[in-house]
Amino acid sequence: MPPSFNDFHCRSIEERDAFWAEQAGRIDWHVPPRQICDYSNPPFARWFVGGQTNLCHNALDRHLAEHGEQNALIAISTETNSEKVYSYRELHAEVQRMAAVMQSLGVEKGDRVQIYMPMIAEAVFAMLACVRLGAIHSVVFGGFASGSLASRIDDAEPKLIVSADAGSRGGRVVAYKPLLDEALRLCKHRPAAVLMVDRGLAPMEMQQGRDHGWAERRAAFLDAQVACTWVEATDPSYTLYTSGTTGKPKGVQRDTGGYTVALAASMPLIFGGEPGQTFFCTSDIGWVVGHSYIIYAPLIAGMATVLYEGLPVRPDAGIWWSIVEKYKVTHMFSAPTAIRVLKKHDADYLSRHDLSSLKALWLAGEPLDEPTAQWISKAINKPIIDNYWQTETGWPIMTLCNGVQPQATRFGSPGKAVYGYNVKLIDESTGEELTGAGQKGVLAIDGPLPPGCMQTVWRDDQRFVNTYWKSIPGRMIYSTFDWGVRDEDGYYFILGRTDDVINVAGHRLGTREIEECICAHARVAEVAVVGVADALKGQAALAFAVTRDALEGEQARKALEADVMKLVDARLGAVARPSRVIFVSALPKTRSGKLLRRAMQAVAEGRDPGDLSTMEDPAVLAQIQARL
Ligand code: PRX
Repeated sequence: MPPSFNDFHCRSIEERDAFWAEQAGRIDWHVPPRQICDYSNPPFARWFVGGQTNLCHNALDRHLAEHGEQNALIAISTETNSEKVYSYRELHAEVQRMAAVMQSLGVEKGDRVQIYMPMIAEAVFAMLACVRLGAIHSVVFGGFASGSLASRIDDAEPKLIVSADAGSRGGRVVAYKPLLDEALRLCKHRPAAVLMVDRGLAPMEMQQGRDHGWAERRAAFLDAQVACTWVEATDPSYTLYTSGTTGKPKGVQRDTGGYTVALAASMPLIFGGEPGQTFFCTSDIGWVVGHSYIIYAPLIAGMATVLYEGLPVRPDAGIWWSIVEKYKVTHMFSAPTAIRVLKKHDADYLSRHDLSSLKALWLAGEPLDEPTAQWISKAINKPIIDNYWQTETGWPIMTLCNGVQPQATRFGSPGKAVYGYNVKLIDESTGEELTGAGQKGVLAIDGPLPPGCMQTVWRDDQRFVNTYWKSIPGRMIYSTFDWGVRDEDGYYFILGRTDDVINVAGHRLGTREIEECICAHARVAEVAVVGVADALKGQAALAFAVTRDALEGEQARKALEADVMKLVDARLGAVARPSRVIFVSALPKTRSGKLLRRAMQAVAEGRDPGDLSTMEDPAVLAQIQARL
């Protein structure tokens, strides 16, 4: 008889090494691991020590003999009206060409390669080529602009940057090369080479000696055969930057062996995915969901994966569902924000397609509100499964593990803790564990974090320890920085962030980063950015700014607001642009000068700002209220 989910979870914690040794059998090892988990130096967990493997081998090469002609990558763009399907064999050939080109540009094991690309097949080739060579990719979301890109280049110090002439959104071309050139002008690090994919969307100025064209280089390596470089299980596969409480994004560093095992196990145990099925994840390769569930997990599992460039409602709200019908998609993975966009259209756009292949829809990245869950559940008549995790973990912390044992959905809850995660609720002031049902606490995870989770912050072990493992008094435990509560059956409910991270349309943004950018404006003296509830995007960024000089009249305010927004667009990207910039004469602060963000947020959301006894000047809040 299969084990109950609770027994399965219990064993993953109590017989940790035996449990993960079994899961490790799901992937190919060049050299099997000597030790399953080395936790002799907490909180640094070293998984599958002594083992040697390769992520690209597990995603591609090992499927060739049996599934070589099967679909691997289905690249669809409604922006350029193109559609191309790559079999495993074809994808393998393209990845080898890309790997050979990278080698010719000097890339070796351990080198970083920054990837700043739209959702095109070449981005997938580039990521897989990196891990094939043992190089470390660092993908920067294509919606970010030059400032964000520059800070990530300086931190990752890539030998090579791979990019494209342009992305496209809703039919509007966004040229990448000028943004990349500006980023390279802003940063200190100089990459040895830049490889550009020309889609024919925007002109490119190529810099002699540094910039190379993918098409020309590829032509020289059509028959390339590049063997996988075996790497230690603990060698990094990639870094991915994510926002926190400071203005400087953290490079989340992922290993190779642990990540491959975690994803290989997640497909059958969480998603019930099998070779030959088709996974359609609508995220972006610039986010962790894209890394794990557009690229690596489906390919490791021998499934086909859909890479989609375009909007969910263009040419109409039926587009995703026509893809499900055409390619017999079995698993779909998206974000609540996308469903709220669809919800503005007739549900008939969805239901008119034959969705019989589809098993379920998983949603992640932000709270799934009940009306959205109900609407999509009715529109497609399939199970809707909430899924909670973070860039740091790389795969779900909480969801239903239906591949272990079918579990009932509870609206508003992403489910129980997934196997491998020893989740606790902690009282933030005492550090004590809250064991009773209905008690609100900080969601924390007792170490070691399971395989696949972040190893450290890139080149900053101390920051990893201080940020994640020391925020709770009296104990070393990983903080998710989310509030949570558990019911009597072990189902969790997520109640929002404990820090200044906000979630706009499923994009994780740090308010500090936006504040630092706005402060660079010559006329801005001080600024505070908070996230406020938004019906469509979940949250929207709202900025409160104090100007250096007097700002009289509505027209002057509007002009400066537009100027500030332009600055954010140019430096960080439109994703970080606040929905409004509200000019005030002072920001609410405590007597000791600490910004009262929560009070500003409460007022902006029409809630009671709570205890204001520590506030220096309560009139400031009244002014904010009047200007909203
Ligand atoms: O606050 C939680 C929220 O998004 C954060 C992680 O965002 P990111 O690093 O971009 O990773 C997304 C991976 C899915 C979390 O700390 N979050 C994510 N999923 C959910 C969620 N909040 C509520 N419900 C969820 N299902």
